[in-house]
Amino acid sequence: MKFPYFNENLNESSYTGPIMQKNFEVVSKQIETYFEDPTRFTAAEMRDQVESVMDALSLGQVRVAEPLGVGNWKVNAWVKKAILLYFRVSEMKDIPAGDVHYWDKIPLRTDHQAAGVRVVPPAMYRRGAHVEKGAILMASYVNIGAYVGTGTMVDTWATVGSCAQVGKHVHISGGVGIGGVLEPPQGRPVIIEDHVFLGSRCIIVEGTIVEEGAVIGAGVTLTASTPIIDVTGEQEIIYKGRVPARSVVIPGVREKTFGKHKYGVPCALIIGTRKQSTDEKTSLNQALRDYEVSA
Ligand SMILES: CC(C)(COP(=O)(O)OP(=O)(O)OC[C@H]1O[C@@H](n2cnc3c(N)ncnc32)[C@H](O)[C@@H]1OP(=O)(O)O)[C@@H](O)C(=O)NCCC(=O)NCCS
Repeated sequence: MKFPYFNENLNESSYTGPIMQKNFEVVSKQIETYFEDPTRFTAAEMRDQVESVMDALSLGQVRVAEPLGVGNWKVNAWVKKAILLYFRVSEMKDIPAGDVHYWDKIPLRTDHQAAGVRVVPPAMYRRGAHVEKGAILMASYVNIGAYVGTGTMVDTWATVGSCAQVGKHVHISGGVGIGGVLEPPQGRPVIIEDHVFLGSRCIIVEGTIVEEGAVIGAGVTLTASTPIIDVTGEQEIIYKGRVPARSVVIPGVREKTFGKHKYGVPCALIIGTRKQSTDEKTSLNQALRDYEVSA
């Protein structure tokens, strides 16, 4: 697998993760130092370091955030800083795509066949994003720093924002908007764990974590402020920024007073946990995915 500026010293066998690789201990410290004080190294020196991190991100050797267990993730702020520096040290250039041209700093990935990723036109994913072998990108967009696990389907017009972390066998339905959290560097990106189903046109932003196996109904919006109300018990339980594993979530409205008047404002409701009938409703998508894989 080759990328622009590919660093021959990095390959998948050098990945001794999951937390930190030996060969990135020095790089990460230099990036932290340069981020705080750009006079400590020359731009050329940093460019080499930043390029090597972009190669490693593209290969999935380093990640913006790493799973330590369900609902428990470690953010690698230095990787986000490397991405921010990458924008700083890169120059704008012409990016041709047949007769169509772009003007930008970050190249698009073109190694789909070698990477084992099906990329349906006009899907795009940028250098510094890692899409695991066996994932499918319908006509969608995956931004820098994002990670998409194997068996995941990113359906048409869905966007996976910068640094977002998507697990294995996730279904991201058409038009879903997964937000990017590039800044602040220590901020947790949006995280979608393994086997999650995101219904059509959902919006998941501001570092929200959707835990393993949850089903998010069509049109649900989850920001860090959205009350996610578990209505299954006698007492409601309110979560913010987190959907517990296997929850089924639908859009809701709650009453809120502003001044002298009451309004209905959006919320999300946990109406139960994933059951056989939920799985049947979402299995159509599995069939679609199987078809796409073998087609
Ligand atoms: C969330 C979802 C999977 C339903 O989950 P489920 O566990 O099967 O839930 P049920 O259908 O048993 O619904 C339970 C209750 O919640 C209500 N409900 C379920 N989904 C709802 C939704 N999206 N909006 C409003 N109410 C909803 C149902 O009306 C039902 O109420 P009732 O018992 O009074 O009839 C489904 O609503 C959904 O959004 N699917 C995503 C479809 C999609 O985007 N597909 C991708 C492209 S094809």
